[in-house]
Amino acid sequence: MIVPSERLRKLPPYLFAEIDRLRKKLVSEGHDVISLGVGDPDQPTPEHIIAACQQALREPRYHRYPLGHGNPTFRRAIADYYDRYDGVRLDPEEEICVLIGSKEGIAHLPLALLNPGDISLVPEPGYPVYHIGTMLAGGTSHFLPLTEKNRFLPDFSCIPTEVLSRAKLLWLNYPNNPTAVFAPSEYLQEAIAFCRKHNIVLAYDAAYREIYYDRRPVSFLSLPGAREVGVEFHSLSKTYNMTGWRVGWVCGNRHIVKALASLKENIDSGTFEALQVAGTVALTGSQDCLERLRQIYRQRRDLFAGCLKTIGWSAELPRGTFYYWVKTPSGDAVGTVKELLEKAHVVATPGTGFGPSGEGFVRFSLTVPEERLRLAIKRMEALWKKK
Ligand SMILES: Cc1ncc(COP(=O)(O)O)c(C=O)c1O
Repeated sequence: MIVPSERLRKLPPYLFAEIDRLRKKLVSEGHDVISLGVGDPDQPTPEHIIAACQQALREPRYHRYPLGHGNPTFRRAIADYYDRYDGVRLDPEEEICVLIGSKEGIAHLPLALLNPGDISLVPEPGYPVYHIGTMLAGGTSHFLPLTEKNRFLPDFSCIPTEVLSRAKLLWLNYPNNPTAVFAPSEYLQEAIAFCRKHNIVLAYDAAYREIYYDRRPVSFLSLPGAREVGVEFHSLSKTYNMTGWRVGWVCGNRHIVKALASLKENIDSGTFEALQVAGTVALTGSQDCLERLRQIYRQRRDLFAGCLKTIGWSAELPRGTFYYWVKTPSGDAVGTVKELLEKAHVVATPGTGFGPSGEGFVRFSLTVPEERLRLAIKRMEALWKKK
């Protein structure tokens, strides 16, 4: 009998199993189910990026094992991107490491930094990989609730002293999944000071950095002291509709970057170079595609805001990401999602799937074409308008 490791058996259960079973049943019965569940862009990767990749695929030099921490031209393009938009000067040699999507680096960072028994400070509701990576490395997560009251910004003053003495890593993610809020620079400065005081590494997840509607979110790395305590994870996934390509990076503090790169040297052999060539073109080519993408999401957000108004649900208008974090009138996240699926054939994600403080909230991902979104809205209004 094959018995998976204790480590694997300790992974949290799949919280959406029942909802997923219901969704599959409805689809098998021939119902038209609209998914606002998974956060995966529906738009295609821009044509000029695909063309660059096609050309690179024909180059035998890119068919070999990629270099350790990334193609030098791609790392230079990443450094130039930070310099151009944020005035942050990064040394491409020592302060940037290319990843197989940012998830890969996020999952591996705890293995590079934590010893068994060390603590990660993990916001909840949040992206589950911060906790899972910590657990797989033998560490322990101390969860930091994100609530309406704290404006979805963890309150460091609530962390017990004995936790602080064992804490080695703090995860922050803004623009935030799932709550769609941004962090003000004063807050990030407070986080940097907190990490410096307690000798904690700050791992900043900027996956949604380029998906904003009005004002560009604050750059973590541009803040004073950021590079002394932390690194930023970023990727091409959401910015250029490239989730399937698996190209990301970590950048910032050279010691942290080096630790993760050394770990990766022993686990993978880097990111396929043809993809890194495409990534270079994505970052250095015309950014018109990105403005068009923001416009698409902005329109969808406004449509959905109209629906929420009609059904009388409360939510703050997102300033970025393609998520909508909505408070359910019943306060029952799973119950609401089930009702929505059963009666309107629309999939959403219960807030509790991201952590217990997500109770009472539902996350809608606006990653379906406008006509599908309009149809989902029509069904939601038919279901809930009268209530
Ligand atoms: C908050 C957050 N961080 C990181 C990722 C990982 O993105 P990728 O591995 O595609 O770069 C995701 C993906 O959904 C995410 O939501």
